[in-house]
Amino acid sequence: MNTLGDDMFQLRHLPVICLTTLLMLATTNWSALQAQTIDPHRVYEQRCARCHTDHAGAFARESLRQDEDRIVGRKSGRALQAFLTAGHGRAEAAEVEVLVDHLTAILHRDALFQRKCRFCHSQSLGLARGKLILREGRLTGRYTGRDITDFLGYHGRLTADEAAQMVDTLTQHLQTAGR
Ligand code: HEC
Ligand code: HEC
Repeated sequence: MNTLGDDMFQLRHLPVICLTTLLMLATTNWSALQAQTIDPHRVYEQRCARCHTDHAGAFARESLRQDEDRIVGRKSGRALQAFLTAGHGRAEAAEVEVLVDHLTAILHRDALFQRKCRFCHSQSLGLARGKLILREGRLTGRYTGRDITDFLGYHGRLTADEAAQMVDTLTQHLQTAGR
């Protein structure tokens, strides 16, 4: 219940609240905040697809590789982050950050699949789109009706973390099927 006394109390504190809000805004890391709202697929499509392959995933697999702790171009050996920051592709700093993170994540996920699944399944994209389906948001065997999250708990020798990551990867392959 709001009494007149409460209203007066809140009004009296208004300047303090405003000042605190302003201080918080001033110390916010704007580029990090901006980065959260940038969609890496869109950045790739707008800035890179014109000259490179259509999709970021295919580009990462075909043209990039991990070299110690950096991602480099397969042909040139150039460090991706530095190359883009220097102006290749004309992406803004926040876009470069998001794109490099995204391309790095694709390579890491692929490496896991290569290591643990490739012996029996040729590629994760084909596996997802050929055999799996999203049913009410859950990754499910298209023909077996299996719950794949449970299935990967014992199939493919993954740790719990890796299994969760694999479910994400396969889910994303299905969600981006139209792109
Ligand atoms: C105007 C055309 C153009 C645009 C736009 C462009 N590139 Fe390139 N890029 C090239 C050309 C040409 C090469 C050199 C040819 C090659 O290595 O195949 C290249 C090479 C690269 C390489 C080195 C490849 C290797 O194997 O060493 C990377 C990495 C790269 N581009 C990333 C990007 C990214 C990421 C974007 C978007 C932010 C982008 N490029 C936008 C034309 C472009
Ligand atoms: C030793 C061979 C082998 C390895 C390694 C392997 N799989 Fe499989 N996988 C199979 C076979 C065989 C089937 C089909 C038989 C079945 O459905 O039980 C299958 C089926 C699947 C299915 C389809 C399930 C369905 O219900 O349609 C998924 C998803 C799957 N595997 C994911 C993976 C992942 C991810 C990895 C790596 C972490 C992996 N597998 C590693 C042999 C393997």
